[in-house]
Amino acid sequence: MHEPQAWTARAGSPLRGTLAIPGDKSVSHRAVMLAALADGTSTIDGFLEGEDTRATAAIFARLGVRIETPSPSRRVVHGVGIDGLKAPDGPLDCGNAGTGMRLLAGLLAAQRFDSVLVGDASLSKRPMRRVTVPLAAMGARIDTEDGGTPPLRIHGGHALVGIDHTLEVASAQVKSALLLAGLYARGETVVREPHPTRDYTERMLAAFGVDIAFAPGIARLRGGQRLRATDVAVPADFSSAAFFLVAASIVPGSELRLRQVGLNPRRTGLLQVLRMMGADIREEHPATHGGEPVADLVARHAPLRGIEVPEALVPDMIDEFPALFVAAACADGPTVVRGAAELRVKESDRLAVMAAGLRGLGLRVDETADGATIHPGTLQGGAVDSHGDHRIAMAFAVAAQRAAGAVRIDDVANVATSFPGFDVLARQAGFGLA
Ligand code: S3P
Repeated sequence: MHEPQAWTARAGSPLRGTLAIPGDKSVSHRAVMLAALADGTSTIDGFLEGEDTRATAAIFARLGVRIETPSPSRRVVHGVGIDGLKAPDGPLDCGNAGTGMRLLAGLLAAQRFDSVLVGDASLSKRPMRRVTVPLAAMGARIDTEDGGTPPLRIHGGHALVGIDHTLEVASAQVKSALLLAGLYARGETVVREPHPTRDYTERMLAAFGVDIAFAPGIARLRGGQRLRATDVAVPADFSSAAFFLVAASIVPGSELRLRQVGLNPRRTGLLQVLRMMGADIREEHPATHGGEPVADLVARHAPLRGIEVPEALVPDMIDEFPALFVAAACADGPTVVRGAAELRVKESDRLAVMAAGLRGLGLRVDETADGATIHPGTLQGGAVDSHGDHRIAMAFAVAAQRAAGAVRIDDVANVATSFPGFDVLARQAGFGLA
């Protein structure tokens, strides 16, 4: 449990300097999971020391995997092999992490032992049928609460069979859960997506020696394969970088360099959208890090204009809407978001919570079932409830840099789930944040 904590954020100085953004959350979760299942020892570098990813590592320790932390952001994982996990001695706590819980649901459904996955107040309200229903079609037995929410009570000992499944919502988490279950299933598991989502599970399974075929929108693998230990280099998390990209864009006189940020095309929709709005963000020193494209991102202040966000880009920026709303609030002309109903089932209802927060700072936001129109204006000081959502809290710390008065942001402790040290880095860059 977190103690509620608050920030007081206000306009600081122009944002300047070079920042190192912590490791990617999605990649860190998957690296621990696959390394745990592999034969041999894997080293993970750049592991995100966030509460979400630490919760996943702690769960694998409870499942009998020895994981060492020789230095911060490094893990040495002694894999137990595909059938080597041990029954846990009680419920497994995924904390705030939807990724942890959904991927583990697939993996644990295939084990010989029973397990129970629990989460914090936010995760306990999130929809799980999107994974339990297709897993049941593979032969898994998982009970949820009546509303399809956690805890997940997973009954082990059921043989799984591969399925050919088309996802209803574009979800990398559901795709990944099915692929992990598919490792244990008889025959082939095929997952098709309405829109391609991040493919880290597929890429990483291949890096761990699994024969998997994948292309944007489809992945297929055969069950019964073993994983071979490998070292993983985790790139910096674009979703964390996003707050600084928007901050530098909206604060006059700013120029920030974010070092070697992961630029997987399934993650960088916001970069395209900010550029459509007129942002000045350059990529320098492109390289490949752990098989992922990375580059320094250099963001300078630029006048932004409102746009209609192309619906096709929504899945590629699904975690970036809190940041986008802030950019839109500071643009010239309204910004329209459509096709983003998924935002209602993230760590909070991000459409409602962002709209309420911006209204509280004096703006007009028209909310629809699957989006919003943000009407820019002068941001006033005020109070914002982040509803315990890490990305909402960080988004309003950014918004406050352009506000006429102080902005009190409540319930910010969960920032540590994805971006420990955000406040320190933000102050170092020039944010007014206490
Ligand atoms: C994630 C996938 C996305 C994203 C989440 C991380 C992942 O969720 O919002 O923050 O690591 O697979 P969905 O797959 O549910 O869209």
